[in-house]
Amino acid sequence: MNNNTSYTDFQAALEAALRGAPPARGWLVPLLSCNEQDAVELFREADRVRRENVGDDIHLRALLEFSNFCRKDCRYCGLRRDNKKVKRYRLSAEDIIKTALEAEKLGYRTMVMQSGEDAAFTRDVMANIIKGIKEKTDLAVTLSLGERDIETYRAWREAGADRYLLRIETTNPELFKSVHPDDDLDKRMKALMDLKELGYQLGTGVLLGLPGQTLENLADDIAWMHGIGAEMLGNGPLIPHPDTPLGREKGGEMNLTLRFVSVLRLVFPHAHIPATTAMGTLHPQGRESALRCGANVIMPNIGPMGFRKLYEIYPGKIYRRDDAKKDREAIVEMVESLGRTVGKDHGHVWRPVQEKK
Ligand code: 5AD
Ligand code: SF4
Repeated sequence: MNNNTSYTDFQAALEAALRGAPPARGWLVPLLSCNEQDAVELFREADRVRRENVGDDIHLRALLEFSNFCRKDCRYCGLRRDNKKVKRYRLSAEDIIKTALEAEKLGYRTMVMQSGEDAAFTRDVMANIIKGIKEKTDLAVTLSLGERDIETYRAWREAGADRYLLRIETTNPELFKSVHPDDDLDKRMKALMDLKELGYQLGTGVLLGLPGQTLENLADDIAWMHGIGAEMLGNGPLIPHPDTPLGREKGGEMNLTLRFVSVLRLVFPHAHIPATTAMGTLHPQGRESALRCGANVIMPNIGPMGFRKLYEIYPGKIYRRDDAKKDREAIVEMVESLGRTVGKDHGHVWRPVQEKK
């Protein structure tokens, strides 16, 4: 059977997925669009593939949103520079490093540092923070700081950063352009390839529910992410933010989001796939559902309480009001209630032996 085969039948498409056929619209679309009854089987298979390949561990990544300044104006995002209603904040280098020490004390093995594209965190400032964390802790360090030039990515990698998250959001050129006034799709793609080349564990993902986005677009996104060798796949439904140009759009939908997660698990059996905060915001059980149909990562917020609600990428973003210790306990309880275990090691990505860097 060739790559262009179209499957009208759910079962045939599922078989293509399970035999590891190259990702192509022909079988991805029928899976992404399957009915509720077929989705039960899709979720079950994704859960099985997850168990057989990455086991029952759920990896907890401590997430620190350390600055909500952003020089970009993405049309969906509440932190866009044109949103004058946002009270902007940034943490000092000392506070970031202090938070890392606390995260490690609480039992986390990874810290994810995320921010808007904030020019104050220059190549050197950030490299020093990364070095500080690496000297003082045994944490794996994940960066999520947007697009930078390759020399900056190299400096941060040399400073000790292990992973990088940079969502492609969509691989369709028109769609990409329609929501990213400052960005260029080819440049974003190149940035991801640079990160891969530098040996980062590579994370990307898409926004589900962009206006005009089709299932074919999503299928193409999956095939592209597979092609670049993505190893972590963080995706979320668009949640329209009233203070943005997309404020009146319909946004993403939970069931499609779950089918998307399941399909990703079938295409990327070893990947790290988070149950994201946006899923939990769209539906009270969103993250638990995702963890039951392919996901294996969760990213609890460990930022200082006063700042959490200021990192309002989308409205209603769930954030816990307890301290970081209680937060972690609640998440551990949730993991155990699903019959799963909390990952105790760094939870690095899986790589075939010959590719190890
Ligand atoms: N709804 C859901 N996710 C959003 N993001 C930005 N704005 C929104 C929104 N309104 C996501 C983007 C970005 C990540 C940091 O947050 O995918 O990559
Ligand atoms: Fe800035 Fe990221 Fe929001 Fe775009 S999605 S406006 S780059 S914080």
